[in-house]
Amino acid sequence: MAKREFSDRQRKQLLRAAKAAMKKAYAPYSKFRVGSAVMTTSGKMFLGCNVENASYGMTNCAERTAIFSAVAQLGPKIEVSAVAVVNDHGVPCSPCGACRQVIYEFGPEAVVFFQGANGDQQAHITELLPAGFRLK
Ligand code: THU
Repeated sequence: MAKREFSDRQRKQLLRAAKAAMKKAYAPYSKFRVGSAVMTTSGKMFLGCNVENASYGMTNCAERTAIFSAVAQLGPKIEVSAVAVVNDHGVPCSPCGACRQVIYEFGPEAVVFFQGANGDQQAHITELLPAGFRLK
């Protein structure tokens, strides 16, 4: 499977954009702000932040906010080539299981940039979500 290569500059650009998006987070319950930036194969970038709710389970993670925004702007044929995620606690934070499934839906070859146990890390979505489910 072809791994997409991202330059250092592109990775930094995505992480910087994710950080800016993080400042918009609505996280009054967890106080854990998360930001995400996704890049499409057409070269467009979309941002997202976590949006919590008093009914906790309705919370939308930053990664899904960014991907849904991309779909809302560009339509259903988008393909996500990269996802960056950052948080305001500076702690390890890879996409949750639900977000991995959503990333896989729109980016089965996506590269994910996140803070791992030993600092900045990058992984192919299939490393994070082996045997992902798709209908097509
Ligand atoms: N969160 C994200 O937005 N993305 C992640 O990758 C992990 C968790 C959010 C959900 C919730 O608002 C807060 O972080 C604490 O779980």
